Amino acid sequence: MNTINTNYPLKSKNTFGFDIVAAHYAEAKTPGELIELLKHCANENLKLYILGGGSNVIFPGNFDGLVIHPSMDEISLVDETDEFATYRVGAGICWDSLVAFTVDKGLGGLENLSLIPGDVGACPIQNIGAYGVEAKDCIVSVEGVLRESMFPFELKNHECHFGYRNSIFKNELKGKVVITHVTFRLSKQPTLITHYGNLEEELTKYPEKSIKTVRQAVIAIRESKLPDPKEQGNAGSFFKNPIVSVDLVKELEERFDRVPFYPIDSQTVKLPAGWLIEQSGWKGKRVGNVGVHAKQALVLVNHGDGTGTEVIQLAKTIIDSVKQQFSVDLEMEVNVVE
Ligand code: EPU
Repeated sequence: MNTINTNYPLKSKNTFGFDIVAAHYAEAKTPGELIELLKHCANENLKLYILGGGSNVIFPGNFDGLVIHPSMDEISLVDETDEFATYRVGAGICWDSLVAFTVDKGLGGLENLSLIPGDVGACPIQNIGAYGVEAKDCIVSVEGVLRESMFPFELKNHECHFGYRNSIFKNELKGKVVITHVTFRLSKQPTLITHYGNLEEELTKYPEKSIKTVRQAVIAIRESKLPDPKEQGNAGSFFKNPIVSVDLVKELEERFDRVPFYPIDSQTVKLPAGWLIEQSGWKGKRVGNVGVHAKQALVLVNHGDGTGTEVIQLAKTIIDSVKQQFSVDLEMEVNVVE
């Protein structure tokens, strides 16, 4: 049986840096160990939370149950052709270490997703995305264990119902599975995706365009705009970019000089939540121990001794404020532990 720690501090296990404690905490290195822990949890009637890299989560307070951290850490080559290499990766591998590993091997696909915090096991849940690429573009399949029956499962890419910051794991399977491995197909003849935002412009500072320099450029852009969780607690984008009608954008264009948006189809666009929050006057504001980041209004930060409850309260106030000024409903992207 795995070691189960009691009264375990989670301050270093959540990127907001909230100073909280889990009544019980254990790591699962294999699916077998995970099943043992799930059985223990069921037998003892404990509340359960599966914690990955802790980069997209808010604990409102101490957690009175068992926190399990999947720590499967192997990266295995499972298939190789002239065009592609396919790797099966353990859920506990740090996401950016995987990106670095693939870029070092000259394999393309994940480079635009450089420096996103968190572990591999969480990447399919919200289908992480940045700079014109989403994790789903490289995911072949997702494996794990069903929480209730403790049976293993494997879903192919199309069965995961991936969408913008969305998947089956946030809907039908929410809270019902533990992801243990993700399989990725990476390209030996990569096509670079550089059209997004100022990536193309950033790349002019480098001598060549390659997956290595795309990674370097993405890291440089992220470091210039997003706070490092080691220095200031945060969970990256706190809200999803809302999908709105083209008509609303036309109305906004009468009120504002430049309205940034990402086209989706002839009827709808995605508006940057950061822009809406900035226009509502929240950028850089501090409320008690928490606040809105000064360089990217989409990110809420912990100024030191903040709590999850304070961040949730601030998020609600921002949602109300944006609703009042723009009639747009912002939705939180970060998961709140109940
Ligand atoms: N903007 C503002 N004010 C702000 C922030 C943004 O006006 O404070 C406007 C600017 O016009 C800017 C536009 O919004 O040009 C877009 O901003 P940015 O390029 O930073 O991207 P985003 O839409 O705010 C999304 C992802 C990020 C990802 C970037 C780059 C979501 C919810 N967020 O942000 O994801 O890094 O695109 O691809 O889709 C994350 O998930 O943690 C994350 C950082």
